[in-house]
Amino acid sequence: MKIMIINGPNLNLLGTREPETYGNKSFETYFSELQFKFKNTELSYFQSNIEGELIDELHKADQDFDGIVLNAAAYTHTSIGMADAVKGIKTPVVEVHISNTHAREEFRHKSYIAPNAKGVILGFGLLGYDLAIQSFLNEK
Ligand code: DQA
Repeated sequence: MKIMIINGPNLNLLGTREPETYGNKSFETYFSELQFKFKNTELSYFQSNIEGELIDELHKADQDFDGIVLNAAAYTHTSIGMADAVKGIKTPVVEVHISNTHAREEFRHKSYIAPNAKGVILGFGLLGYDLAIQSFLNEK
């Protein structure tokens, strides 16, 4: 089983960015924990602040992976390009958000990704990535 995690803009700042919302852990540290926990799963990770690079990565990941875990961050609420990319690829995408976006500003309530996602996990902190991986593993 091969799973790709794709993180969007500003998630490179996890650990220092708004820790009251996103916690104190960097994604690199958390990714090592995920690799340790899911030893029999091939996990890959990509982060970019650039919309086009995220779209390119979704295209590249298509069919090379059994599942994609996508936190498109702010582009979730704005990007028809990312939504079309998720719709256009065959590999299933699980949308993850660290925070409960529905409990925050109204502009975060809308997701352009969700209609084409296999499922959405939000509000459980970094655990959401773990749950998304489990959702793929439980299918097998
Ligand atoms: C986020 C929620 C988004 O609204 C926000 O723009 C982010 C992070 C989350 O993981 O909670 O950057 O996707």
